[in-house]
Amino acid sequence: MTRLLSHAIAGSFVVSAAFADAGKPPPGYPGTCTDAGCHHSFTERRVIHDPVGEGECDVCHTVADEKEHRFKLNAEGAELCTDCHDAPSGKVEHDPVAQGECTACHDPHGSAGRHLLTGRTVGEVCTGCHDGVVDDHKYVHGPAAVGACTACHEAHAADHPALLRAPEQEVCLKCHQPLAERLQGKSYTHAPVSKGCIACHNPHGADDKLMLKQPAPGLCFSCHPAISAAATSGTVNHAPITEGSACALCHDAHASDFESVLKQEPITVCLSCHDKTIETKTGKLGDFKSLLANNPEHHGPIAEGNCTGCHGEVHGGTHFRLLNSDYPAKFYASYDEDLYALCFECHEADAMRDKRTDAATDFRNGDENLHYVHVNREGKGRTCRACHQTHASKWPKHVTESVPFGDWDLPLNFEKTPTGGSCLPGCHRLYRYDRKSSVVNVPRT
Ligand code: HEC
Ligand code: HEC
Ligand code: HEC
Ligand code: HEC
Ligand code: HEC
Ligand code: HEC
Ligand code: HEC
Ligand code: HEC
Ligand code: HEC
Ligand code: HEC
Ligand code: HEC
Ligand code: HEC
Ligand code: HEC
Repeated sequence: MTRLLSHAIAGSFVVSAAFADAGKPPPGYPGTCTDAGCHHSFTERRVIHDPVGEGECDVCHTVADEKEHRFKLNAEGAELCTDCHDAPSGKVEHDPVAQGECTACHDPHGSAGRHLLTGRTVGEVCTGCHDGVVDDHKYVHGPAAVGACTACHEAHAADHPALLRAPEQEVCLKCHQPLAERLQGKSYTHAPVSKGCIACHNPHGADDKLMLKQPAPGLCFSCHPAISAAATSGTVNHAPITEGSACALCHDAHASDFESVLKQEPITVCLSCHDKTIETKTGKLGDFKSLLANNPEHHGPIAEGNCTGCHGEVHGGTHFRLLNSDYPAKFYASYDEDLYALCFECHEADAMRDKRTDAATDFRNGDENLHYVHVNREGKGRTCRACHQTHASKWPKHVTESVPFGDWDLPLNFEKTPTGGSCLPGCHRLYRYDRKSSVVNVPRT
């Protein structure tokens, strides 16, 4: 890289403003290179390179043609500088540094800003070659917006990919202290966060808020195809999975103290929305906060704080009401064991199977199986909801107080005794049952 340049040389002439226009000093000019009318402007810059300030032009320039006032550089590329400055080193070297183009970023003589940079700010220098980094985005990251590229990158060479000053996560967390503190000591860290941040965030900017590479749920779907399939190709959907901040309504994208990086205890997550009646196209959904508060007998899984014990298809799926497995959607159903797969995940199907039993269920009159009588029939078999509250109830055995029957809340008036019970539902007159000595209820309808 030999450059020719105009240069003042020693001589005996008086300075004249005219010779600068001529591009060279008159022969025998006695002054220095930076005299007024010559390269004086080099000494007027706010920051002056040390050897220039000392008038040591010759550490870089040697006369090539004295008559023509032509000069060549003393060395090529970085070698011009590395006599006095350490050559940058690191596993990753920035392309222009590797090419020895120190002057792509530094003015060898002086500059208006710090570090002899060719631009006013670091960012101006960098974006001179990397123009898309900031300009391409609707939302720009604070430090990138102000051109503080070297808050994250080394300008010359680094030991980390992409010329980062430290491993990527460390680079980010150094500034994001509150998040760093939140990540500390959490029981569950979302796998990609342990590796870094740029799987989801663009470090410079993005068209989506929070510099997300894409918003949830698309961002999350990109790595969780099974959830994507459940949410988008199922027949039963759950609104929050794809609406608003979607996945982030229930999950913490980074880390949490709750399994499946949930934001709160699993049941609290559900009750954060199901704490009021929700109107849907197909009807109202109950207010579960009041239901649980007003009904002290909580069904096993709920007592354990686990709605997904039954609603395992929380992200969407093919079963009625996002349930794990089959459960009839209507009030009556022809009996089929598979239809109640949900209940039989945890309870014995035997309770419904035989007409006579002395053990399979407590809902019997002597050995007459009353579960069989009601449930196990063609056509109008009563589904479990005819008698049981699935979530919570006031009565033992999760027997329900009433069931919706059209517009009417059909009461059950269930009473339990040590060996049986009685019922005065809207369906028939008062009937009793007793397991020890069977009761004769007449007349029977
Ligand atoms: C640290 C090395 C270095 C020193 C010291 C130095 N120069 Fe330069 N100079 C260069 C380089 C390198 C170039 C070529 C610039 C480029 O490629 O952009 C250059 C270019 C020039 C040019 C032509 C382009 C321009 O910027 O106007 C002039 C004139 C010049 N130098 C004068 C001087 C004078 C006068 C001094 C002493 C006061 C001096 N230089 C000291 C490295 C130096
Ligand atoms: C003759 C020795 C010498 C040569 C050759 C030299 N420099 Fe310098 N340079 C210095 C001295 C001395 C300083 C001031 C002390 C310091 O900051 O390190 C300096 C300062 C600098 C600074 C400013 C540092 C700061 O933080 O403000 C930069 C940038 C720089 N030089 C770049 C270069 C480049 C690029 C070249 C090659 C084109 C070069 N130098 C060639 C001696 C030299
Ligand atoms: C891509 C632009 C770029 C190139 C090319 C480049 N520098 Fe720099 N250099 C910078 C920036 C930016 C800084 C300020 C560093 C900071 O802000 O952390 C800097 C700082 C410096 C400094 C002062 C601070 C320090 O690290 O000691 C010196 C000396 C220096 N550069 C020398 C060189 C030399 C010699 C070369 C060529 C081998 C070179 N630079 C090539 C951008 C560059
Ligand atoms: C003279 C042009 C030029 C300037 C100025 C410049 N770069 Fe580069 N930079 C390149 C080239 C060429 C590459 C290699 C090709 C590419 O990745 O685009 C590169 C690559 C990079 C890379 C990727 C390195 C890797 O290994 O993945 C980063 C990061 C980078 N530059 C940051 C900066 C920063 C920060 C600045 C300002 C301090 C800057 N660049 C200034 C030309 C430049
Ligand atoms: C907050 C930290 C941070 C700041 C500030 C930052 N970068 Fe980066 N940059 C990164 C990280 C992290 C990567 C690696 C991205 C990847 O591998 O996907 C990167 C990658 C790059 C790359 C190479 C890949 C690409 O995206 O083109 C270039 C070039 C680059 N940065 C230039 C710049 C410039 C120019 C600036 C200043 C305007 C800047 N960066 C500011 C963190 C930052
Ligand atoms: C030099 C300091 C610095 C570094 C390093 C840094 N950031 Fe930032 N970041 C900021 C500042 C400043 C803001 C704007 C603060 C605000 O609006 O609250 C910001 C905002 C953000 C935001 C948006 C937050 C919000 O509430 O609007 C995200 C996301 C973010 N940074 C991610 C990252 C990632 C990922 C990295 C590492 C690649 C990183 N940051 C590295 C300083 C930094
Ligand atoms: C798996 C994707 C993913 C990864 C990896 C990730 N984030 Fe986020 N980040 C998000 C999402 C999604 C949000 C928005 C959360 C919301 O809407 O509640 C977010 C929000 C943020 C915010 C703003 C709100 C807050 O929580 O403070 C910051 C800052 C942030 N992330 C920084 C980081 C940093 C730093 C890392 C690396 C340690 C990182 N993120 C890793 C997805 C991710
Ligand atoms: C870059 C890929 C990637 C992205 C993007 C991503 N994840 Fe993950 N996620 C993983 C990996 C890898 C695991 C651990 C393996 C697994 O369980 O599938 C995981 C695990 C999970 C887990 C289970 C954690 C546990 O402890 O069981 C949840 C919940 C989760 N991710 C939610 C999300 C959400 C919400 C988003 C969007 C904000 C998201 N993921 C975006 C890769 C990703
Ligand atoms: C309404 C709250 C809610 C929303 C919204 C939600 N999840 Fe979940 N997610 C859960 C619950 C609760 C679990 C724990 C399931 C269990 O314990 O059976 C879970 C578990 C997971 C798991 C780990 C177990 C598995 O099934 O693989 C992943 C991965 C996951 N969710 C990803 C996502 C993604 C991706 C989104 C957005 C598309 C999302 N979640 C939206 C509540 C939610
Ligand atoms: C962010 C609010 C929100 C959270 C959190 C939430 N839900 Fe929902 N859920 C809704 C809304 C809105 C509907 C009604 C719209 C619809 O059917 O998707 C609904 C509907 C339902 C339905 C009826 C679905 C149908 O179409 O039959 C069930 C069952 C359900 N949620 C269970 C749960 C469970 C279990 C949890 C906890 C893991 C939970 N929800 C957490 C908002 C939420
Ligand atoms: C033992 C299994 C089971 C558990 C545990 C369970 N559910 Fe259900 N859930 C069901 C069944 C079965 C239905 C359908 C009831 C029906 O149609 O009669 C249902 C229906 C629903 C519905 C829609 C119908 C309505 O009544 O609003 C919502 C919403 C719902 N459950 C939310 C929850 C929430 C929230 C939890 C945790 C507090 C929970 N479920 C725990 C089995 C369960
Ligand atoms: C995930 C397991 C699970 C599922 C699924 C389940 N249950 Fe239960 N159920 C339990 C547990 C545990 C108990 C015992 C604790 C209690 O009294 O709630 C129980 C108790 C009962 C009781 C009271 C029994 C007694 O001896 O006190 C009835 C009635 C009942 N369940 C009905 C149902 C019906 C109807 C379904 C289907 C809609 C169903 N269960 C689904 C776990 C489950
Ligand atoms: C006609 C009302 C009625 C219907 C319909 C009904 N049950 Fe019951 N069930 C009862 C009564 C009453 C008891 C309490 C028996 C006792 O302890 O005296 C009971 C008890 C139970 C028990 C406790 C264990 C046992 O068998 O004694 C379970 C479990 C149970 N029912 C599950 C179900 C399931 C699952 C369905 C639907 C497939 C269902 N029940 C349908 C009335 C009904």
